[in-house]
Amino acid sequence: MDVKKYLTQQCAVVEQALARYMLPEEGVLANHIQAMRYSLFAGGKRIRPILALAAAEALHAATAPLLPVACALECIHTYSLIHDDLPAMDDDDLRRGKPTCHVVFGEAAAILAGDGLLSFAFELLSHPDALQGISPQAQLTMINTIAKAIGPVGMVGGQSLDLAAEGQAIDFEHLRLIHGYKTGALITASVQAGAIFGKGDENQFAALSRYGAQIGLAFQIVDDLLDVEGTTADLGKTAGADAQRNKATYPAFFGVAKTKVMAKEAVDAAVTALEIFDAKAEPLRAIARYIYERNN
Ligand code: IPE
Ligand code: IPE
Ligand code: MG
Ligand code: MG
Ligand code: MG
Repeated sequence: MDVKKYLTQQCAVVEQALARYMLPEEGVLANHIQAMRYSLFAGGKRIRPILALAAAEALHAATAPLLPVACALECIHTYSLIHDDLPAMDDDDLRRGKPTCHVVFGEAAAILAGDGLLSFAFELLSHPDALQGISPQAQLTMINTIAKAIGPVGMVGGQSLDLAAEGQAIDFEHLRLIHGYKTGALITASVQAGAIFGKGDENQFAALSRYGAQIGLAFQIVDDLLDVEGTTADLGKTAGADAQRNKATYPAFFGVAKTKVMAKEAVDAAVTALEIFDAKAEPLRAIARYIYERNN
């Protein structure tokens, strides 16, 4: 299949849904909403929402009622980027090809834009449109899965470990843990959200979870690689920033060549995890390969 075409198509579906659900920039809160919208609509690959939709598709589900959830995942991801770029964290000036939220709106407004997007995500997760077709129990399980993945024993915990590891000598087990938490957890939860919505059985859920964990790891390994080998123009964020901040990354630990092998191994393991699925899982397989081959 033509993965570029698929991603472009699904990206448009997500963009449309985001435009529909996101608050309009008007009224007394226009400035706050403007800061949220600035980062949310700055571009971005929309890979997490696309994964949720593709996982549901692999289970032969009609995906329209999953769109509020897909949007919520992108709001959460965008919040994490706004906070990740803050001076107190990675201190980056460029994101999605534009000046970062804090550069344009100031630090306080950027922190609040992140907070606003995170909270708004839970409005979307519990949106009446999102309840159609799945039981209240499944809906709760989905919200719980996402909440756990982005919290202290998930994305936020991973960010905390990432910052603590700057300039430190850490072992491989710890590096893998950081990548699994800061990036793998939300990607895994995105796939799991689709699996829950698609009413996957225990086996299918376990397989999709394994797939999610492997592409989540691969995604951050490749992000590390692109920081070394990519260009600022392609990335839309400043290349070489990790070395500058002495970040714990795979290339810093293993060198570029071995890192590429490890990224490929994770992608292969992800594809293997999908063995039990039919042709409807082809987008998921193609996305796994794309994660390895991407240049931004
Ligand atoms: C960047 O995520 C941050 C990581 C978790 C590695 P993406 O590479 O998905 O960024 P966008 O959404 O396309 O801008
Ligand atoms: C970001 O990791 C992880 C989260 C935002 C949760 P990075 O710090 O490597 O992401 P980039 O490279 O700034 O996009
Ligand atoms: Mg970071
Ligand atoms: Mg960063
Ligand atoms: Mg990075």
